[in-house]
Amino acid sequence: MHVLLSKKIARFLLISFIFVVALIMALKHPATKEISGQYLGPYLPESFRSTAKISVEEQRRIQREKEEAELKQSLEQAAIKNATEYAIKEKIKSYGGNETTLGFMVPSYINHGGSPPKACFVSLITDKDPIAQIIESISNVQEKFNKKFAYPWVFISLGKLDGSKENMISQTITDTMNGDSKVVDIKFISLSPEEWVYPEWVDENKAAESLIALANMPDGDSRAVRYQARFWAGFFWKHPSLKNFDWYWRVDPGIKLYCDIDYDVFRWMQDRGKVFGFTLSMSEAKEANEKIWDVTKKFAKDFPKYIIEDKDNFKAFITKKDSDDFNNCEFKSNFEIGNLNFYRSPAYRNFFDVIDKEGGIFYYKWSESIIHTIGLSILLPKDKIYFFENIGFHYDKYDNCPLNDDIWSQYKCDCDQGNDFTFRSGSCGEHYFDILKKDKPEGWNKLP
Ligand SMILES: *[C@@H]1O[C@H](CO)[C@@H](O)[C@H](O)[C@H]1NC(C)=O
Ligand SMILES: *[C@@H]1O[C@H](CO)[C@@H](O)[C@H](O)[C@H]1NC(C)=O
Repeated sequence: MHVLLSKKIARFLLISFIFVVALIMALKHPATKEISGQYLGPYLPESFRSTAKISVEEQRRIQREKEEAELKQSLEQAAIKNATEYAIKEKIKSYGGNETTLGFMVPSYINHGGSPPKACFVSLITDKDPIAQIIESISNVQEKFNKKFAYPWVFISLGKLDGSKENMISQTITDTMNGDSKVVDIKFISLSPEEWVYPEWVDENKAAESLIALANMPDGDSRAVRYQARFWAGFFWKHPSLKNFDWYWRVDPGIKLYCDIDYDVFRWMQDRGKVFGFTLSMSEAKEANEKIWDVTKKFAKDFPKYIIEDKDNFKAFITKKDSDDFNNCEFKSNFEIGNLNFYRSPAYRNFFDVIDKEGGIFYYKWSESIIHTIGLSILLPKDKIYFFENIGFHYDKYDNCPLNDDIWSQYKCDCDQGNDFTFRSGSCGEHYFDILKKDKPEGWNKLP
């Protein structure tokens, strides 16, 4: 009886053992794995689960497909890149090579896969600027435009800016970005005061006489303002801090924007092939611009390859009606949106060198406004220059306030149209509209 029972137990154990071994082998079989992975996956022990999902062949197939897709994508990207490079080369060729101003600027008009233009705000801060005014201008530009677009700022000062001023400026920008200090990149750049000197070829006595002779015009007796003019006309665009930028928007302490700018102005300029935008123009006192027109005419004669033909350029803006006489009209530089590569082009560099060597910035009062304006007007086709009628702007005693009611309300302008300077005496707005045969806004001639 005992023997019989233990035999039964032994047989049972043997059968159970064989069954378990068979079960384990069955579960390890690829076919079973697939099924068990599908249905039993979650319940199987760890050692079965991970490998149970897909077969080795399947894994290899997936890996192969992934590699093929990556290769295809990189080939496509290379083809796009090649096509773009080819298109750029062809475009440059069509303008007559990269020595021409437009040819030189071609790469900065490529919309690289829709990424934002490489643009920044540039602000020169001097000791004379009250911090309240600086803050107000920055805060206003942020509120009216940049809180939506988050373009970086570059602040340039002569000597290091006081740390508390830097903090206030950064905080002002952060406040307009919902308190997030990481969205807008801010750089503080200091110029060495040694850079703010007369260039070696300038006769200091002659320069000193000019400070006295022009003392009764605004900033006529200011040496600092002349250094600043030289900086804006010939140096800011080659400063290393702007090296990676194609576009700039100048923001001066004391300026104000009146209207909401709800579109990306830099992108707009880039997409339409514009080079320079202004809001205020005016006729400068002719004493300040003594000789500059003669120097310009000589430059045009010496460097004809850089000059755009009169029928296409904007010389009409800076000359009197039906004559070749200079009219002292300028785009006021307290507001400028422009392509930095214009100034970096061989044409403008040569033009600036000739202007600079004359010393007229110091012997008279050639300003960056007049130097930029002449350069733009003779070195570019006129359609590259644009009047921003819709950007309400204030500086000093001058307002650009849209007279066109549709623009005024569409852009939610908070300015008095009665203060618009565009068509008043002293402005070059009427001349601008006339030479371009543009329709003037209603009521343009009703203002005093
Ligand atoms: C790049 O484009 C040019 C012109 O279309 C073509 O001749 C050249 O073979 C292309 N190179 C590559 C690497 O695709
Ligand atoms: C024009 O292109 C050539 C070749 O790419 C380059 O070496 C040269 O420096 C460029 N010139 C200017 C003015 O950028």
